[in-house]
Amino acid sequence: MKKIYLFLLLLVALTLFLPISNLLGFSGKNEPIPAVPGSSQNFAAVTQIFQNKCVDCHSPGMTRMPIYADFPIAKQLMANDIEKASARLNLSKQLYSGETSFTPLMLARLEGAIRNNSMPPAIYLLMHWTDNLTADEKQIILGWIADERAKSSWSSDSTKVLKGEPVQPLPLKTDLDAKKVALGDKLFHDPLLSRDNTLNCASCHNLTKGGTDQSKVATGIRGQQGPINSPTVYNAMYNIAQFWDGRAKDLQEQAAGPVANPMEMGAQWDNVVEKLKQVPDYQIAFADLYAEQGLTKATVTDAIAGFEQSLVTPNSRFDQYLRGNNDILTADEKAGYDLFKDNCASCHFGPVLGGLSFERMGVKQDYFKLRGGQLTEADNGRFNVTKLEKDRHFFKVPVLRNIELTHPYFHDGSAGNLSDAVRIMGKVQQDKNFTTEETDEIVAFLKTLTGEYKGKPVSQLESEDVK
Ligand code: HEC
Ligand code: HEC
Ligand code: HEC
Repeated sequence: MKKIYLFLLLLVALTLFLPISNLLGFSGKNEPIPAVPGSSQNFAAVTQIFQNKCVDCHSPGMTRMPIYADFPIAKQLMANDIEKASARLNLSKQLYSGETSFTPLMLARLEGAIRNNSMPPAIYLLMHWTDNLTADEKQIILGWIADERAKSSWSSDSTKVLKGEPVQPLPLKTDLDAKKVALGDKLFHDPLLSRDNTLNCASCHNLTKGGTDQSKVATGIRGQQGPINSPTVYNAMYNIAQFWDGRAKDLQEQAAGPVANPMEMGAQWDNVVEKLKQVPDYQIAFADLYAEQGLTKATVTDAIAGFEQSLVTPNSRFDQYLRGNNDILTADEKAGYDLFKDNCASCHFGPVLGGLSFERMGVKQDYFKLRGGQLTEADNGRFNVTKLEKDRHFFKVPVLRNIELTHPYFHDGSAGNLSDAVRIMGKVQQDKNFTTEETDEIVAFLKTLTGEYKGKPVSQLESEDVK
């Protein structure tokens, strides 16, 4: 409360004289940095806009120092802004000079901020009204973002005009070792991986149920209820790390977890390896594929991870649209995609519309308060891994491919259907209350993301298809 009061007081004081100081040029603009050789004309224009209008908060060390910077409260507020702003988007000297490039995540956040007019912050514009982004400047930045994305291999399959989209199609073909995929498939479906031979990976990641168990939380051996919802294994290879909190660095490391987790398969790896060694088929397959190491925990998890590389679900209706079939989407689905780009794609972007960053559950509103109930350890999210306060309630952004099949939603399985999940996301991440029509349009768009596995729509797979 006190903080807000001080802030308002300061605002009144600043708005009284700052415009004058602005006009007098005290907070003068930076000299233009010359265009990087080899980079587009656009890039020079874009970095110029950043230097004029964003540098105060997003480029630590490059800040222009206005005269009020030495007032104690102003100093603190500015330091806070710089810290928060550069944690989200650090426009460093190396970026301006072209030494390092913008990542897909930076491009997604930039596009989001520009599309929903959130930057520069409204409060700052009160004092620096000339720093508002003009319509032309927005177009320049958005055009440059599209050009950058068009250079990425992710968009190689997209039709020319859609190469700059935040969502890219999944590749129709993957180049994998068929023997390893077959072995991993067998292991994935083998109950010998659990202590009492009752569960396999597919018990919680059923490929006919969108790669999940379609339950609020997972059920381990002896019917134990786990602490968290099962995410999909489809397209998990696109994740920057595995698990909701990202505690496994890749699929191989991930696969070691559930086998030994007492709440899940509850086994000991030594026992599992011994059991698998009794099976003649495995003896042959491992001797063939892993002649030197043989059958070990490392080779079992490597084969499973190899199989998971094949769990890509291309050719959804939305991908067909991206590849150039403009008529395949209805007007509602297209309207939903537009809303999605305004409100969601700063986090849900890339080939699987997620998996590429950790984000707070509840950016604008306290999700956990709205949900009610006790906070659980799982609710801490990324904090459980890093022990950093700034990571509390951060989760890996989930994949939205095949999302109509992977209900219920969120790490706690609290949203039973897609409309509820969309409504909650709008509220807690963007402070928006979508109308029923808007919610329906976004849901319609999300349903176009259901793809194919083994050439069949994921929604129509039967158990015989995935054995
Ligand atoms: C007065 C300081 C200030 C200025 C000027 C400013 N920003 Fe920001 N910006 C912030 C802060 C603070 C945040 C972090 C907000 C948060 O964490 O809630 C932020 C966040 C962002 C983000 C991340 C959005 C996300 O998805 O999290 C982007 C992108 C961004 N700003 C772009 C810009 C651009 C482009 C400009 C110039 C046109 C600009 N900002 C000017 C303070 C500023
Ligand atoms: C008892 C149910 C259960 C079993 C059995 C199980 N999992 Fe999981 N799986 C989960 C749950 C729950 C999570 C999320 C845990 C977390 O994030 O803390 C998960 C997470 C994953 C992830 C990470 C996906 C992502 O988006 O982060 C992958 C990949 C995965 N499991 C693969 C496997 C494999 C391979 C096996 C077999 C070796 C397996 N699972 C067995 C329940 C299960
Ligand atoms: C600031 C980043 C961010 C924004 C913006 C965002 N999301 Fe999310 N989304 C997340 C995170 C993080 C989760 C996981 C939260 C959890 O499980 O507690 C999530 C979860 C979801 C889920 C559930 C997925 C699953 O498998 O359980 C859906 C559906 C979803 N988001 C849709 C949307 C839509 C639609 C929008 C726009 C209205 C949106 N999101 C905006 C970060 C974001």
